[in-house]
Amino acid sequence: MFITFEGIEGCGKSTQAGLLIKFLRERGKEAVLTREPGGSRLGLDLRRILLSMENQDLSEEAELFLYLADRAQHVHSLIIPSLMAGKVVISDRFTDSTIAYQGYGRGIDTGFLDQLNNMAVKGILPDLTILLDLPAEIGLKRAQSRNTQKNLTVSEGRFESESLEFHQKIRQGYLDWAARNKYRFLIVDATGNIDTIFRSITGRMEDFLAKSFEKKH
Ligand code: TMP
Repeated sequence: MFITFEGIEGCGKSTQAGLLIKFLRERGKEAVLTREPGGSRLGLDLRRILLSMENQDLSEEAELFLYLADRAQHVHSLIIPSLMAGKVVISDRFTDSTIAYQGYGRGIDTGFLDQLNNMAVKGILPDLTILLDLPAEIGLKRAQSRNTQKNLTVSEGRFESESLEFHQKIRQGYLDWAARNKYRFLIVDATGNIDTIFRSITGRMEDFLAKSFEKKH
């Protein structure tokens, strides 16, 4: 069972992914929480490179291939072995981030990105993708205040420093892509508070969770 969380900056996916893993573990599921970029040893180095303000001159192509390298290693070293061991894997970002950011955001053809993604993931696709949706203005404000609190502005600020228009394109891109892949997307309103959003996720995942528990027993 492979679940991914997606959304723009400040949508709260890391918090919600953390709550979902706790929820599943309390119900006896063996579950692994991971993220992109940075879900493997190599990925940790790539994350630093990709998000650092020092690399504002990174070309769009170099950016794309670094995300794909991170994903290929992540799938190979962590996702496939965990799924093979029967664990639930939850990833904070996956293939759809490349479609939204490098595709709708940077303007690279999404059909071409889909092919590159397919090569990087060796056929592994999420069973369920939870898209936390909210207006870009709200997300960016949340992300900026989080970064200031954690002093992350310099080390992880490269995308937050992009224009509001860029983030609006990404939000729209996610919604468009979700409409084209309805079978695996769950779109959740992420403007409310943490508990309301989490209840909305688990409430709407009921069928999916029931199936997952049936498989085990
Ligand atoms: P986050 O994990 O803190 O959300 O930051 C990851 C950043 O990297 C975020 O701004 C989105 C961006 N990103 C891409 O542009 N393409 C990708 O394929 C992935 C996984 C992330």
